[in-house]
Amino acid sequence: MSILKREFSKLIDVCLEKEVDKVNSDKYRLKYHLMPPIGWLNDPNGLCQFKGEYHVFYQYSPFDANGGLKFWGHYKSKDMIEWEDLGACLYPDTPHDCHGVYSGSAFVENDRVYFYYTGNVKHVGSYDYINNGRGHNTIMVTSEDGINFNDKKVLLENIDYPSNMTCHVRDPKVFKKNDKYFMVLGARDNNHKGCILLYNSDDLEKWNFLNTISTNEKFGYMWECPDLFELKDECSGETKSILCISPQGIEADGYKFNNIYQSGYFLGNMNLENGNFDFGEFIELDRGFDFYAPQTFIDEKGRTILTGWMGLPDIDEEHYTNPTTKNGWLHALTIPRELVLINNKVYQRPIEELRKLRGIYISRELKSTREYNELKGEVYELDIEFNNDIDNLKINLKSDCNISFDKNERTIKLSLGDSGYGRKTRSVTIDRLNRLQIFSDTSSLEIFVNNGEEVFTTRVYSNSNNDKINISGNLEDVKINMYELGEY
Ligand code: FRU
Repeated sequence: MSILKREFSKLIDVCLEKEVDKVNSDKYRLKYHLMPPIGWLNDPNGLCQFKGEYHVFYQYSPFDANGGLKFWGHYKSKDMIEWEDLGACLYPDTPHDCHGVYSGSAFVENDRVYFYYTGNVKHVGSYDYINNGRGHNTIMVTSEDGINFNDKKVLLENIDYPSNMTCHVRDPKVFKKNDKYFMVLGARDNNHKGCILLYNSDDLEKWNFLNTISTNEKFGYMWECPDLFELKDECSGETKSILCISPQGIEADGYKFNNIYQSGYFLGNMNLENGNFDFGEFIELDRGFDFYAPQTFIDEKGRTILTGWMGLPDIDEEHYTNPTTKNGWLHALTIPRELVLINNKVYQRPIEELRKLRGIYISRELKSTREYNELKGEVYELDIEFNNDIDNLKINLKSDCNISFDKNERTIKLSLGDSGYGRKTRSVTIDRLNRLQIFSDTSSLEIFVNNGEEVFTTRVYSNSNNDKINISGNLEDVKINMYELGEY
């Protein structure tokens, strides 16, 4: 173990000892979401299933709940329900990653996991961390057990990237197609246009640059956390490429692009021979206030599973706040969601394993009612099916959170009161409302509309003890199933 790693590890233990009781006694600690044990969490990293076990790594700043020096934290699980916390695992302990073990991915082959990440280095005395002044190294580290790592290997340094790039190149995602390996990196070019760099390799170590992929018109100044995968459309049977990015610098446009930064995908066909991608429209993956930097992996059952960061970078008091920082922690990951493609649209469905969390259960069928207010709860799954054309729907929960649907406007709206800590309203337009599946945790909501056609993810910090759920509207032929969700 390097001296630095040993010192970091001691320091984390000291912080844990000092902070962990305060963190764990926070009433907003979540019951079934992954959170940092102390300090700050951002992007999910290195998602994979290896020898049957699921691994989730994440951007972890143990020393400061407001962010800071980044490590990778680690959780593993047999079923994605009961997670074992393995703490900090990749440390910023070499000259090539000394200012942060930034985001990256995992690739599993032949009893080995290959991890790729960005080693961040801020050059001392530099005032320009965009155009120069920053090292952004692509680093590989392998593991035979998914827990212990071999030595870090630097694969690409600044000089290896195309010369028209700024020093914002990061977040490698590696995958295999037709016996060849590919890597995508998110980047910002010298004209401050967001783009992807595509590489290929025969041996997972030596990477050849293939192409810069971007839209004709500039779409934001930086594309973070790229992901490229395929889904077979359940309607047409056609296989499509999904290029997922988290772009920065997009202006709000009506109900679209209302967060500081976005996360979404372009649907198209990726030609991996010449590196060309035919861009379709950019579609946001989430309509809520807290969603960024999602990553997918394919599990041993062949499912494409996505997990996102239930938060956003660069959020200050002007946007909204999170009261958990004063208790020594901030942010969480979303529940894992299985992705399916239906009629050229990516649907997100809570993974079926989450049913294991279900406890006490209530089922109701409403034939012709205007209001239903017998339910209450804090940590639950509320599943509502609308068999008739629902109108004027209003659901009030978590004291001052409202979900509404107006048939004429065809708009689903999420509004938060004081418990939003500055988060106010987000909306999306849909054709018809068939189903709402609401996953509520102590301080979060994930609302799946029409079997995952749209999703709203948000943090919410209810202050009062009001856990009543009130549903009103022309409730004709409405089926309600509510499950208390247990702690893992
Ligand atoms: C996205 C991101 C990545 C970077 C990481 C650093 O939230 O900015 O681009 O690798 O976070 O924590």
